[in-house]
Amino acid sequence: MKFFADTAEIDDIKEMAATGLLDGVTTNPSLIAKSGRDFMEVTREICGLTDGPVSAEVVALDHPTMMKEAEILRKIADNVCIKVPLTIDGLKTCKALTDDGTMVNVTLCFSANQALLAAKAGATFVSPFVGRHDDNGSNGMDLIRDIRTIYDNYLFDTEILVASVRHATHVLESALIGADVMTAPPAVIKGLFKHILTDKGIEGFLKDWETTGQSIV
Ligand code: G3P
Repeated sequence: MKFFADTAEIDDIKEMAATGLLDGVTTNPSLIAKSGRDFMEVTREICGLTDGPVSAEVVALDHPTMMKEAEILRKIADNVCIKVPLTIDGLKTCKALTDDGTMVNVTLCFSANQALLAAKAGATFVSPFVGRHDDNGSNGMDLIRDIRTIYDNYLFDTEILVASVRHATHVLESALIGADVMTAPPAVIKGLFKHILTDKGIEGFLKDWETTGQSIV
């Protein structure tokens, strides 16, 4: 399963890239606002930190203006992936862009039927929001299971990009179900490294090492 960083914070992206875990980045208008950076400038900088897809979202609601925005965004770098909302105009834009060889991430997906539409429109990625689905009283991971089944039934190439990931269990279940990608905030990814027995193990080994009086360097 590919790991994308769901952030526009450059330092976090650099740190994740150094671990070898970074397969791409997703941003959205809220994350750009949180970064306080200029959209074009920060997106260009992020594109330079990974060879993987970097999602940059359009903000127009109508197809012609979405296309104009996408034209500008896709010139930023070859690895820009245009993010469009799961609406009729969003899917028209998806179809036009993917027909033209541009990567598209269809976002704000909350049902398996919506994911089916995104795949039929040729989406490179579909982003079901599991955390927000949970918040709304549904089970986000059931949605991922359903989409996996549908995409496998019809051999769709669209990759399932699990978004709105809030905790380690979302990551684990995504991998068990066979999602193609998950995107998570850096704090959630950092949390995956942690295990109490790892910490205890290090503590025990170092205590014993001290008794040898040796040093490696
Ligand atoms: O990239 C969009 C998505 O991951 C948003 O997550 O936590 O705001 O629901 P969240």
